[in-house]
Amino acid sequence: MLLACLLVLLVLLVVVLAKTRSKKLLDLHRQIKVDFPYIPVIGHAYKFIGNNEGRMMMFDELARQAYTNKHGMASFWIENYLCISISDPVTASVVLKNFSDKWPITVPMRHLIGNGSVFGEEEIWRLRRKILIPVFNSKYCDYFVKIFERNNKTLMEKLTAVVDKGDFSTWEYFSAYTLESAFEMTFGENLKVQKNPNHPFAVAFQDYFKNGAARVCQPWLYCNVLYELLPVGAKQNRNKKVIWDCVEDLIKKKKMLSKEPLENTIGHDTNTQGGQFKSFLDLLIEFSGGEAGYTDTELREETLVLILAATDSTATALCLATVLLANHPEVQDKVFQEIKEVLGDSERSLDNLAKLKYLDAVVKETMRLYPPAPVTIRRCDKDLELPSGLVLNEGCYFLLNIWGVHRNPGCWGADADEFKPERFLSATPDQLAAFMPFGHGPRSCTGLHLALTSIKYSLVELTRRYRVTPASSYEYSQQKPLRVTFDIMLKHVHQFKVQLENRR
Ligand code: HEM
Repeated sequence: MLLACLLVLLVLLVVVLAKTRSKKLLDLHRQIKVDFPYIPVIGHAYKFIGNNEGRMMMFDELARQAYTNKHGMASFWIENYLCISISDPVTASVVLKNFSDKWPITVPMRHLIGNGSVFGEEEIWRLRRKILIPVFNSKYCDYFVKIFERNNKTLMEKLTAVVDKGDFSTWEYFSAYTLESAFEMTFGENLKVQKNPNHPFAVAFQDYFKNGAARVCQPWLYCNVLYELLPVGAKQNRNKKVIWDCVEDLIKKKKMLSKEPLENTIGHDTNTQGGQFKSFLDLLIEFSGGEAGYTDTELREETLVLILAATDSTATALCLATVLLANHPEVQDKVFQEIKEVLGDSERSLDNLAKLKYLDAVVKETMRLYPPAPVTIRRCDKDLELPSGLVLNEGCYFLLNIWGVHRNPGCWGADADEFKPERFLSATPDQLAAFMPFGHGPRSCTGLHLALTSIKYSLVELTRRYRVTPASSYEYSQQKPLRVTFDIMLKHVHQFKVQLENRR
């Protein structure tokens, strides 16, 4: 009897869900399709169950299916939501220009950063983006670069401990460097995370991000009330308190200092340069309208966005570039030669980064093959006709498969899966348009110049001092590429391990 009732309920659920799928979306799916069996009620959601490495493989599989589809897309159902994975660069740029809402991926991250711009609702984000843009003006960024210089010295010192010691995880070192730098750019204070990895903010922040990334991949954990009943939810609340307390104290302190005469404030920040340095927090206060501008809550949200957006993304790119240099010694030799020829022993490498063309190609090729943010999401809130004539209908969701765009053989050739920095020395305009590690359109990354400076500068200092060699704990070759996982950012199953030797 019970079984019969359950069966009737299931049939009813299937009928109700089928009815709630609009005819337009059903037609759209019929035109695009995916080569996976459809299961009533859950759709293709079963393909995303499993671990984060499996999810990355799924994004790759969606991309490969899309390459052979005439629309360059693959569509699938998560319950009765239609999702369209896009691996065609032209369609990706049209979608990113026309749609800015990121629901529902934003839901879990709002627990920590509320309406902060990277995950904020579209209407709030539009206002905040206007304030964010001038913060990244090059005249302020010149001072941020000095932060990289100082913190990089600590990084190089720390790395001496692992020279000739066999495999080590670059993540541990580079993520401490990027967190320390992001925090200092944001608040003008140095947490000294590299020297003290157990700093409560660093521990809480890193743990929060790790658990948050796992939650993003499990939509059944999106309901805050239920999530907070779980042990991990309670832990996230404790982490959030540590993070918020630290940030709120700094905001209060900054506001108090701003009321004092200038001569009393100089020297409070570790990196004040004759009173000219302005942290992201200073700039956000100023550009939002000073005392009448952002509230303390808005400042907390926006400063946390900046730390969040700048830390793991930059560390991931830096770690991946190092792993690829270790496994491609011929590329590493060329980078070293270029540094020797262009910079010699000059201490002023930061001023000359733009002259390092081959290094630029290496960094781009790393982010092409392994984009730190491999996918992003957009919600379709209006019908849109593509140049191909296909109409994308309101109500569907887009999975912008940056990983897939970057490996599309139609743009990059039959060797798209191979690491060949030289391709960026002669890249065509179409290829450059198909390169979008920092996103594209109105919601693209505001910090790309800072990120590239930090990555290139670190690689210069690293390559000058050390030779990176492959780790012994995993194999890498064209046939055995890096095993990667999706933790919102791309991560490496083998913790970005390499070995280090002294050059001098
Ligand atoms: C290699 C390093 C980085 C990568 C690969 C990266 C990538 C991205 C991508 C793909 C987006 C757009 C996401 C989307 O469209 O949904 C984004 C947004 C953003 N990034 Fe970056 N990013 C990096 C470093 C940075 C740094 C260093 C900062 C700041 C100092 C920063 C600040 C931001 C902000 C504020 C946004 C949100 C923009 C908005 O929603 O209007 N990023 N980033």
